[in-house]
Amino acid sequence: MAAGAQVQRGLFARKSAEALAEDASENSGLRRAVGALDLTALGIGAIIGTGIFVIIGEAIGKSGPAIVLSFVVAGVTCLFSALSYAELASAIPVSGSAYSYSYATLGELVAWIIGWDLIIEYGFAVAVVAVGWGGYLQDLLSSLFGIHIPTSIAAPPGEGGTFNLPAVVLVLAIAALLTAGVRESARTNTVMVVTKITILLFFIVVGFASFHGSNFSPFQPHGFNGTMDAAALIFFAYIGFDAVSTSGGEARNPGRDLPRAIVGSLLIATVIYILVALAAIGLAPASKLDGSKAPLTDAIRLGAGLGSWAGDLLSFGALIAITSVVLTILYGQTRIFFAMARDGLVPRWFAKLNARKTPVRITIVFGVLVAALAAFIPLSQLAELVNIGTLFAFLLVNAGVVILRHTQPDMKRGFRTPLVPYVPIAGAALCIWLMTKLQAATWWRFGIWLVVGLVIYFAYSRHHSRVQRGDGGDGLTAGRDDRLGPRVGGPQAPAAR
Ligand code: ALA
Repeated sequence: MAAGAQVQRGLFARKSAEALAEDASENSGLRRAVGALDLTALGIGAIIGTGIFVIIGEAIGKSGPAIVLSFVVAGVTCLFSALSYAELASAIPVSGSAYSYSYATLGELVAWIIGWDLIIEYGFAVAVVAVGWGGYLQDLLSSLFGIHIPTSIAAPPGEGGTFNLPAVVLVLAIAALLTAGVRESARTNTVMVVTKITILLFFIVVGFASFHGSNFSPFQPHGFNGTMDAAALIFFAYIGFDAVSTSGGEARNPGRDLPRAIVGSLLIATVIYILVALAAIGLAPASKLDGSKAPLTDAIRLGAGLGSWAGDLLSFGALIAITSVVLTILYGQTRIFFAMARDGLVPRWFAKLNARKTPVRITIVFGVLVAALAAFIPLSQLAELVNIGTLFAFLLVNAGVVILRHTQPDMKRGFRTPLVPYVPIAGAALCIWLMTKLQAATWWRFGIWLVVGLVIYFAYSRHHSRVQRGDGGDGLTAGRDDRLGPRVGGPQAPAAR
């Protein structure tokens, strides 16, 4: 690292990519234990869940059979952005995903905004998904054993209950697993990923064997706009490939494996989604799936002529799929916050690692906060908030690729996005376009989140930032706090604050 490089301060202070990489190689303390296959499983674990098992029903209500096209549009939007993520993840292989990339390219203020945005979006994503899990658990328990969990403890206020116990149990159990270490979490995730893919392949085979082509007419009952509105909603189903890039600090060979896992997991999920959508409409008319809470279970029960076991199997698949989403997204959230704590933008107390090299304080704090969110807040209307936040992050990642190509053209990149700047610009434009399809209320809520974040930045983060203090910023030695776990060779540990 250039020790004498110009130090930038102020709102647009940037961490050099080398300083970020040094954080990863010497100072993070996280364990580099995750290989290419586990990373791809991490991506698929985070992607396939509530979107395909639950939200597809609402989306079919907007698009009709053209849901197949909606999946293609949302998938292509994600693919453009995934290529940008792949380039930045290979060049800046640290925890923190879009937050860390923004710190290197667009400066501290933008990095803070995106970090704040991602924390909230990941938190809501986990809570939304956990609530969906409770619904499926209820279905399966009553279908298999006739057990009925009282609604008062199975749903949040506003949705007929007072406390969503299943969602709380799920989130806390997953948080406990995460504190056991990244390798254990990755193994558990891989088993869940294989299970959910097998069950979806079963659905596809059954769907194509009992295919009713007439269900596809009329193809676009709500016109082109309906299809695009559904694309903006079903975008939720693709969220998660970006979670792979939060593991940059724990990947064994990040330059090579992160791009493969990001693009690979997205492509696998896209193909599965399009086939599942075709099979679902082939099994049951769109009008029967419109608004269903368990659309794939309903489709197979209505159209396949198999016993009730087939529907139960799909419900079981949904439970497993959603569990893996909670695991991987909660994991991603903790790593983004870890990166922010390491940089001093939130109290460094949070960055303490346990003996298994996992950020235990962050995991417990977020586990409890997200569990409380899932327990008490009716979240059905907030899924769009997750979408807008993610689209915003994608937008900045696309911009980051173009900017970094200009500012650091010779930097080592394990993967290069093709046709720069056209591909990132197309990716950014598609993100903006899908954002315009979301409801005004979503924009308001998103704006309020950002304002709260800005207040925290100016009241706290700006004054505690390591870059602003000349500690670990551009051209500076990235030292580390001795309280943050075993030292792995940071040359100059600063005094503990
Ligand atoms: N893509 C994830 C899901 O559908 C968030 O559950």
